[in-house]
Amino acid sequence: MEIAKQHWSAERYAETAHFVPTLGAPVLELLAPSPGERILDLGCGDGVLTEKIAAAGATVVAVDAGPNMIAAARARGIDAKVMDGQKLAFAGEFDAVFSNAALHWMRDQEAVLAGVRRALKPRGRFVAEMGGHNNTAAIIVALGAVLARRGLDAHRLSPWYFPSADAYRKKLEGAGFTVDEIAIVPRPTILPTGLEPWLDTFAEDFFHPLPHADRLQARAEVADLLRPVLMDETGTWIADYVRLRFRATHAA
Ligand code: BEZ
Repeated sequence: MEIAKQHWSAERYAETAHFVPTLGAPVLELLAPSPGERILDLGCGDGVLTEKIAAAGATVVAVDAGPNMIAAARARGIDAKVMDGQKLAFAGEFDAVFSNAALHWMRDQEAVLAGVRRALKPRGRFVAEMGGHNNTAAIIVALGAVLARRGLDAHRLSPWYFPSADAYRKKLEGAGFTVDEIAIVPRPTILPTGLEPWLDTFAEDFFHPLPHADRLQARAEVADLLRPVLMDETGTWIADYVRLRFRATHAA
């Protein structure tokens, strides 16, 4: 099973990516947690959204593959454990599985969906948002161009999976879910600390094969290519995010 080279620092994430949980309000609304429900937060990160689910009166168990993220979630008082989303170890215990901005990091989607279905009670719901088809397309093209100058294929290095609504609907149905709703949602996203810190936080896998001495140069070349496209006239970087949001039900 392929594992992303990306290393997750809760501190760096809070600094450069605090918008991720903040922009998670629509998927939280789609989850509509109720008091007394037992909910699994899959890929909880530092637990900012998990806390909101708990605040609705649900009992939440949170998992994430990053030990540093789990430490940050535990510091918020969340019942959180390190677990690979491709190897979920739960059976028939959750009313809902929730996930925000995590599924696209998981290469073996069949294993993820089988684990989610197993974790749910019959008729339980799976509500999630992930990167969708064309997510950060301009950034991916720029990474491709800069790495090609160095003889590398960015597509082979990419840790991300950004499916279309039709493709993911088929995966969900094939895994034993009924899809209640699924949609692609373009969401231009302001990068509060700019593009280069964003690349450090999210795109480590692309730079990993480069010699240390060349990484900053390559990162600057990516920014140079994207500046005319993703930076507005006030100097704000706005990334071309596209989300895939869905609610599906365990087809008992
Ligand atoms: C994210 O994890 O939120 C993300 C990853 C890659 C591109 C854009 C967003």
